[in-house]
Amino acid sequence: MDLMSREEFVDPEDVELLEKRCRGYRFGNRSPLFTICESEPRVVTTYQNFDSLLTPQDHVSRRTSDTYYVNSDHCLRAHTSAHQHTLMQSGLDAFLVIGDVYRRDEVDRTHYPCFHQIEGVRLYSRDELLGKKSDGENVADLFAAKPDTERLPEKQETHSLDATKASEIQLKQFLESLCDELFGKEAEKRWVDAYFPFTHPSYELEVFYNGQWLEVLGCGIMEQKLLESAGVTDKIGWAFGIGLERIAMVLYGIPDIRLFWSKDTGFLSQFVGKSPTDEVKYKQISAHPQVIFDLSFFLPTTSVQFNDMTSDVYDTIRNVGGELVEQVKLTDEFENKKKGKKSQTYRIVYRSHEKALTKEEKYGEKGKM
Ligand code: DAH
Repeated sequence: MDLMSREEFVDPEDVELLEKRCRGYRFGNRSPLFTICESEPRVVTTYQNFDSLLTPQDHVSRRTSDTYYVNSDHCLRAHTSAHQHTLMQSGLDAFLVIGDVYRRDEVDRTHYPCFHQIEGVRLYSRDELLGKKSDGENVADLFAAKPDTERLPEKQETHSLDATKASEIQLKQFLESLCDELFGKEAEKRWVDAYFPFTHPSYELEVFYNGQWLEVLGCGIMEQKLLESAGVTDKIGWAFGIGLERIAMVLYGIPDIRLFWSKDTGFLSQFVGKSPTDEVKYKQISAHPQVIFDLSFFLPTTSVQFNDMTSDVYDTIRNVGGELVEQVKLTDEFENKKKGKKSQTYRIVYRSHEKALTKEEKYGEKGKM
């Protein structure tokens, strides 16, 4: 509940960085293809979270030990898949849902009761998926002329094999290039068969990164029942879900998932102002407390530009303070036109990896700077 009451649900900067990187890729910021849905309510009905996704009645995820129930028919979404039904019903054919999800979990280095996911859904009409021959004739149909009575490992009962294979190719190409974008083209990838109640066939994409196989996402061809119950009768589609923290931990070298919730500016400042494509590697913060000083002064003359001064001051502070300066930030600028004076204020945050610093110890440096 503490997590829910946090300030206007501003997502941690680091998760946002990765999220922007995913959506900037191909999705484009104004998203020509995918509608971006990031304000879906985090309290959903149990129908949305489970039933609409064909989750079996006795599935472990329905237990009160796994899901946060608000009342008997509402819960905190345990995955962004919970919005698939409603968004398809509202008429969307291609969308991304971005949001925080909640699971009752033990808390440790890699588990936390709240994390973030991106869900993707893409539906195709027959012509979109399979195209037409030059004479205008259909190449193939989405649905089998005679549905199989039993499902096959490679396809659902009602789907044609052509349509399943065509959407599978689209799905895999799309996600492989997203993965290349995140981990680099050189990183080896592999597809692993998986099971989800809402897709068939289902897969997981793994990438070999930093010497080990990392599971990046789950995906598959959407169960046709799901589309039908949302009123979609003439399309088939694929879906995927990515958990963001686990990937951010690997990409940015963050050793503990709990750090995402840190309010320590030594952690947060490492992600502020970075662009999604910047190389970011987390530098471990010290367990010792910070010592904070504000430094204010007049600029030598008013002809010195604020900007030019700032870069010189950053250098000077880092030169004088050395390794112990964890952060420097310009916090205020002021110009008194009448008196012909300009001033600036900087906040210096000191912190040592070895010991707790005292204010007195660092006070002398302020004058030097
Ligand atoms: N909802 C799944 C989870 O949280 C992830 C997922 C898997 C989403 C496959 C999908 C999918 O859309 O097709 O573990």
